[in-house]
Amino acid sequence: MTAGRGRVAPEELRSHQWYGTDGLRSFSHRARTRQLGYLPEEHLGKPVIAILNTWSDINPCHVHLRDRAQAVKRGVWQAGGFPLEFPVSTLSETFQKPTPMLYRNLLAMETEELLRSYPVDGAVLLGGCDKSTPALLMGAASVDLPTVFVPAGPMLPGHWRNEVLGSGTDMWKYWDDKRAGLIGDCEMAELENGLARSPGHCMTMGTASTLTAAAEALGVTVPGASSIPAVDSGHDRMAVQSGLRIVELVWQQLTLSEILTADAYEDAVATVLALGGSTNAVIHLIAMAGRSGVKLTLDDFDRIARTVPVLANLRPGGKYLMEDFHFAGGLPGFLARLTDVLHLDRPTVAHGTMREQLDGALVHDADVIRERDNPLAEEGGVAVLRGNLCPDGAVIKHIAAEPHLLRHTGPAVVFDDYQEMQRTINDPSLALTADHVLVLRNAGPKGGPGMPEYGMLPIPDYLLKQGVRDMVRISDARMSGTSYGACVLHVAPESFVGGPLALVRTGDLITLDVEARLLQLDVPDDELELRRAGWTAPPARYGRGYGALYQDQITQADTGCDFAFLSRQGEVPDPYAG
Ligand code: FES
Repeated sequence: MTAGRGRVAPEELRSHQWYGTDGLRSFSHRARTRQLGYLPEEHLGKPVIAILNTWSDINPCHVHLRDRAQAVKRGVWQAGGFPLEFPVSTLSETFQKPTPMLYRNLLAMETEELLRSYPVDGAVLLGGCDKSTPALLMGAASVDLPTVFVPAGPMLPGHWRNEVLGSGTDMWKYWDDKRAGLIGDCEMAELENGLARSPGHCMTMGTASTLTAAAEALGVTVPGASSIPAVDSGHDRMAVQSGLRIVELVWQQLTLSEILTADAYEDAVATVLALGGSTNAVIHLIAMAGRSGVKLTLDDFDRIARTVPVLANLRPGGKYLMEDFHFAGGLPGFLARLTDVLHLDRPTVAHGTMREQLDGALVHDADVIRERDNPLAEEGGVAVLRGNLCPDGAVIKHIAAEPHLLRHTGPAVVFDDYQEMQRTINDPSLALTADHVLVLRNAGPKGGPGMPEYGMLPIPDYLLKQGVRDMVRISDARMSGTSYGACVLHVAPESFVGGPLALVRTGDLITLDVEARLLQLDVPDDELELRRAGWTAPPARYGRGYGALYQDQITQADTGCDFAFLSRQGEVPDPYAG
C-alpha cells in the first residue's frame, strides 16, 4: 500500500520550520543543536524522530526500554533520520495508586502536547504496561504524525516448584490458596521469587498483552512485534526495524489517521475478542477510536463477539503464556486464522497491507492457537450486557467465569465503597452463600475515581474454605486483565452519578443471563423511583489539582473514559504559527 507513494522534499518536513528557514528562530535552533553536540550534516534536512520512552526505575514492565530506545535510534540513524529521545510519564500498573487509569489521559495529553510543540516529523512510542499503550496512541492519534509503536514485550514465564506461573492470574490463585489455608508463608516466599522473572509486561493475556496485540492488529507495529519476549534479542531487532520504518513513513507522510481507520478498529476488536483478551480493552479501544474520529461502541463489541470464536489458549481463560503464543506463530499466525473477518487491504506501518503481512504466516502449535473448528469458545470472550441495572451497558468476560454462574439469580449484598467491602467481606455475620451477588459501587470513572481494578471482589474466606471459587460480582469498576470470575464490570452509568447501581439494596434479587445479555434488578420501577428520589450524590473526593480536573472531565465507561475536552472535535492551532 505504501509502495509507490511519493516522497516529500526536506523543505516539506514539519521540522524544517524550526531548523531550515532564514529567520532568527531557525538560527537559534541550529545554534542550540550545535550546543547538543550535533554536526549540521547529522540532522539538517533529515526527518526528526521523537522516541517517546516510558522507561522508569519503578516500572519493571518497562525497565529494559532505555536499551530499546538505543536500538530504535540505531534504526533511525541507519535510515537517515535524526532521533531524539523524550522521557514521558511511566504508568506502572503495579505501583501507581490509586490506579494508573487515573493517569492514562495525563500521559495521552503529555504525548499529544510534546509531539505537537517540538520539531517532530515522526514518532516511535515505547510502552506496554496496561494503560501505556492506549495513552500513547490516543495522544499520537490527536497529533496525527507518522508513528510506530514499539511494544515492551512480555516477561518470561514464571516458575515455582516445577509449575509454570502466569502474572496476576497465579498470584490471585495462590493468594486465595493461602486464605483458604492450603499453603503457608514458606510457599508464598518462594512464589514471590518465581512470579516475575525478567523485565517485560505481564505474560498472560492480560491487559498489556491484549492492548499490544490490538496495536499490532491496528497496523501500528512492525509485524510480529507484540509477542516477542522483552528479553529476547529479537526484541532489540524489532526496535531497530521500527526505527528504520519510521523514517520511511515520514518521507512518505503516511500518518496515523490513514492507518487508524474504522476498518482497523473493527479488526482490533475482532482480535481482542478472539484472543479472549482483557475487558479493559473495551474502554481503551473506544477511547482510542474516539481520538481517531472513529465511533466505536459497546454494541460493536457485542456484534463482533458473535462472529469470532476464541482461538488463543492463553491464561487467564486458557492454558498457555505469551512466550508459547510467540513460538506458536505470534499475532501473524493468529490473524491468519481470522482472515475471513478481517479487513486485509488496509495500510500498516510495515511494507505493504495487512494482507501482505499475513501472507505466509504459519501456526506451529495448534493447541496454543486453535483451528477454527476447535475453538476454546464459539464466541468472542467478552459479552455486553444491558438491563435496568446498566442502561448504558456493562461487560463480562464470560469465558473466565464458572459456567454455572452465567445464568444466575441471587440476592444482592451491597458494599458502598471498596473500603467498606474490605472491612466487612469476611465478617461471618453477613452469612454469605455462593448464591449471593456481591455488589460494589462508587468505584467507577468519577466515583473511584479512575475505575480502579476492584471488580474481582474477593470471595469471603469462609466460602473459600468451603471450596467456593467463583460468585457473581457486579461493580462499576474495572478488573485486571489477569483476573477471572463471574465479574460484571463497567456498569454504566456509574453509581456515583446516580446510575441504577446506586439504588440497589442488600436483599434485592439480581438476574445475570449472559446468553440473553441481561443484567436485571428485580425491583419494580415505582420502587426504584422512590429510591431515586431519596438518593444524594456522594461528595467529590478531590477538592483541587489533577484529581479534581479528572472528576470534572472524565466521561463514562461506555464512551471510553476520555476527558470531555480531549475527545471533542475542535481546532488546535499550529504551534509554529506566527
Ligand atoms: Fe505491567 Fe502487568 S504490571 S503489564
